[in-house]
Amino acid sequence: MRLKSDVIVIGAGAAGMMCAIRAGQRGRSVVVLDHAKAPGEKIRISGGGRCNFTNIHAGPKNFLSANPHFCKSALARFTPADFIAMVEGHGIAWHEKSLGQLFCDNSAKDIIRMLLDEMRAAGVQLRLQTEILAVEKDSDGFRVRTSEGEYECASLVVATGGKSIPKMGATGFAYRIAELFGLALVETRPGLVPLTLDPVLLESIAPLSGISAPSEIRHGKTGFREALLFTHRGLSGPAILQISSYWREGDEIAIDIEPDVDLLLHLKKAKQANGRQSAQTALGEILPKRLAQYLTEREAISGNMADLSDRGLIRLCDAVQNWKIKPSGSEGYRTAEVTLGGIDTTGLDSRTMQAKSVPGLYFIGECVDVTGWLGGYNFQWAWASGFAAGESL
Ligand code: FDA
Repeated sequence: MRLKSDVIVIGAGAAGMMCAIRAGQRGRSVVVLDHAKAPGEKIRISGGGRCNFTNIHAGPKNFLSANPHFCKSALARFTPADFIAMVEGHGIAWHEKSLGQLFCDNSAKDIIRMLLDEMRAAGVQLRLQTEILAVEKDSDGFRVRTSEGEYECASLVVATGGKSIPKMGATGFAYRIAELFGLALVETRPGLVPLTLDPVLLESIAPLSGISAPSEIRHGKTGFREALLFTHRGLSGPAILQISSYWREGDEIAIDIEPDVDLLLHLKKAKQANGRQSAQTALGEILPKRLAQYLTEREAISGNMADLSDRGLIRLCDAVQNWKIKPSGSEGYRTAEVTLGGIDTTGLDSRTMQAKSVPGLYFIGECVDVTGWLGGYNFQWAWASGFAAGESL
């Protein structure tokens, strides 16, 4: 026996659940299918367990896409304020951490509970541990063959996310469905991911492992001011994760540590005030001691500040505030928070997320070629694109 519904959503993640809620509220019969044991697993682990569920500054400028205009319509019709209203409606306490990033006070599980409550209220059926075996389309709509039986629907929404964290069940499912129906793809790559270094450089910076410092990391004209973290694998921290989405293999990045400090002025004053102190000591007043030691030794700057020429001071400043590094790669999908690229937006209607060439077929969330910065932007895209589809099907 086949189960018939107006809408099937494949993927009970952030985008899929929001879409199901909106479609259910509008009176559609909706079934959500997912192969996982629990819904919203990425929500559960997000934001260190507190879910950075949106960013109050979210706008098109915070997203990477081959078509930077595509995300505008959906983002304008479901805003951070709309999501905050839902969160507050469920009595979930939240706070702003920094840079407009909103987190749950208590737990990310509150967000999952809220979405499940909303789905229940909207009459949505959720079927977990359901493997999708085949998807077909005929004149009546779509047929979805699964490990738990067959389903039929007029509208099919693909919300299965990207390739990041395969250990958590991420698959390339959405891309395969897109190809099956003749939609184009933009090449996928890991985003918001730590960068790795070649073994020689990695060994030389090994003593810095664990050090974090305020930095600006630049790649071409793009720069992010957040923390940089040295790890035993290479470079991490929010500033590196942000720039990793712009970085391409073979490119160089520039690191500016303590970008708000006029370092040359500090060193000149230190030289004047106490010429007998070492450059390492003077630098250690601004930077973590191990980092100051590493950089002065790397630049072969020893002896007293009094003996250091202006050129020497400038060279030291350059080492700290214009440190050029060519990462050897990234940690890949194993640790990437998101997948860049995906379903080419030229094949989708930006108001509804519907495939232009396949009426009734929708793609939402991370599988689409729209990727946000770190800081709640990716969930805002998931909510907004899910809502846009839910409004239209
Ligand atoms: P999502 O991946 O959430 O959901 C896809 C669903 O489809 C899953 O339930 C999966 O089981 C299911 N599925 C996949 N393949 C299937 C198949 N073949 N058959 C059936 N079901 C299938 N973003 C942010 O804004 N703030 C944050 O704090 C964080 N933190 C964060 C931490 C970590 C560790 C990661 C990895 C990622 C984040 N993110 C984030 C990014 C955010 O989690 C991501 O952008 C959204 O979850 C994307 O939502 P989707 O609904 O598109 O996919």
